[in-house]
Order: sequence, then C-alpha cells, then structure tokens
Amino acid sequence: MGVKYTELGLVNTRAMFSKAVNGGYAVPAYNFNNLEQLQAIIQACSEVESPVILQVSKGARQYANQTLHKYLAQGAVQYATELGKGRCIPIALHLDHGDSFELCVDCISSGFSSVMIDGSHLPYEQNIELTKKVVEYAHQHDVTVEGELGVLAGIEDDVQAAAHVYTQPDEVEDFTKRTGVDSLAISIGTSHGAFKFKPGQNPEIRLDILREIEKRIPGFPIVMHGSSSVPQDLVAKCNKYGGKLKDAIGIAEHQIREASKSAVCKVNIDSDGRLAMTAAIREVLATKPEEFDPRKYLGPARDALRELYKHKCVEVLGSAGHAWD
Ligand code: G3H
Ligand code: 13P
Ligand code: ZN
Repeated sequence: MGVKYTELGLVNTRAMFSKAVNGGYAVPAYNFNNLEQLQAIIQACSEVESPVILQVSKGARQYANQTLHKYLAQGAVQYATELGKGRCIPIALHLDHGDSFELCVDCISSGFSSVMIDGSHLPYEQNIELTKKVVEYAHQHDVTVEGELGVLAGIEDDVQAAAHVYTQPDEVEDFTKRTGVDSLAISIGTSHGAFKFKPGQNPEIRLDILREIEKRIPGFPIVMHGSSSVPQDLVAKCNKYGGKLKDAIGIAEHQIREASKSAVCKVNIDSDGRLAMTAAIREVLATKPEEFDPRKYLGPARDALRELYKHKCVEVLGSAGHAWD
C-alpha cells in the first residue's frame, strides 16, 4: 500500500523554492545511499538551520532498498525534530534523474515529495511528452516535478555525454509552459562526477546563458546538477592514503555561490561527499590497520561529511539560517 509524503513529515519543494529564489540562496540537494550519509546531512542542516532536499538516485534506491528508504526518510524527520528541539527543518525527499514514468509513480507511492524526470537525452518533443505525463500524475498527489533541458557532460547514471549541450534559452519558456514542471534543471557548464575537466582547462559556469534563461522565465526555479567543486585537499588526502584519483577537477565554489544568488534555487552535490567520506575512511584504514569495527572508520567519515555539508550551506549555497523563512 502506498504512503503519502506528508504522512512521513516531508514537504514538497514548492515553498522551499519560492523562498530560495526571493532570498538569493539555493537549497542543497545532497545524495544519500546509507545511514551515515543521511545522519551527516540531517546533523549539518539542522545545526545551520537550512532547508534540505534528500536526494535518491535510481541506483541508490536499488542499493539501499525502497522500503528502507521510506523509513529512513521518516526517521530523518523525527531525528531532525529531536535536533531542533521540537522544530524540524523543511525536508523534501527527491528522486534524482528519474528515467521513466513508472519509476516516478513508484517513488510517489513510497513517500517521495518530489521527483525529477530526466528526458534531457530525448528529442525535444519526446522530452515534453514524457515530462508532461509525469507532471500530470505527480500534481494529483501534490508532488513537485523537476525537468531537464540540455545535457551535462559526464556521466548521468548509465548515460554518458562527451560534451556539454548547453540549454537553449529559446526553449525554456515553451518547455516550462507546456510541461507544467515546477523547476528546471539546466546545462550551463557544470558536469557530473569528480573528473569534470582536464588539467589546463578553465572551468567556467556560463552565467551569461543563465541570465538569458532568467530573462525568458523570470523567477522560475532553476536547478544546477553536477555542482561538486572537487576540493583538492580531499583529493590529495585520498591519494595520500592509497587512492588513485588522477586529475580530479570540479567547479570553483565561488562560481556556485554566484549562481546560487540568482534563480538557481537547488544545487546538486554528490561527488564532494563521496570524496570526503572516502578520504576519511582511507586515513583510518591506512593509519590504524588494527581497526576492524566499521564504526571506527564510518564514524570519522560521517563527521567529515557533516563538516563538508555545513560548509556548503554556509559558504557556498547561502541556505544556512533560512529554515524558518
Ligand atoms: O547525478 C548522479 C548522482 O551523483 C547519483 O549517482 O546514480 O551513482 O547514485 P548514482
Ligand atoms: P556532482 O557529481 O557534481 O556531485 O553532481 C551530483 C548531481 O548532479 C546529482 O544529480
Ligand atoms: Zn545530476
């Protein structure tokens, strides 16, 4: 039997986004696959009083189990309420890169408050058709929907694109009107993963395209995927303790900060968390080879993640302090 997200204490992204657009900040969308990542997200966002989007990919759902995800999200709300001494930060549960109508329906019936339908690899009219179908279903359940126009370079789940296909400003008004989406993911130079650019390249977000898009759909919530900055200290730490991450390069945090001040109201970060976790685990395993209690390496990994997420909310996205707007 299905469950509605409100029964789990979750919210959809509608109010979050209108506040973020007006307030000049972006809501963090942090991916999670396991308990420690979820704990770190909730601890960080509760401490800095930020709204948050718990983001689950198709792969994460398969990894952690769909039933567990439902109860993890419900547990996250109760945990955040404890941390907030009775007051819970706004928490949405979002499907990242949904690739079919059926997957979106399944997530909605298991308590997701928001879904992404990623038709960005389809021809334009097919993207519209699929996205519209998801929107019509989701809105009957008051679930918000993110669509995507343009293709990011890098890997999106199983789909790999060699080069960016920037979002065409000319298409955004037509796409948002005809589909009815609540937010739009765009491609302006960010990309997925830890290897976004080659050494010597100058990674720049195309803020000029973002501004053109904003002119066509003023105040409409924009989403930026692939927004990890790949901090070089974390890459170095991974490599110091046995990792082999060669030429891992991301987008500078000041550029993400700049975009977050505009209509960009959701910023997706996954890879930086993976790096923080892996660096911390590698350090423990390399320096304390006698340890075999998972809490002794997953605990420090969780702490490192929490610090990373707090930093992102405060210094990069500007979402800290906006939980009760
Ligand atoms: O954009 C993709 C996210 O980082 C999720 O990655 O599909 O490996 O869980 P995943
Ligand atoms: P990163 O790989 O840059 O963290 O992007 C994550 C993302 O876009 C999830 O949808
Ligand atoms: Zn993404």
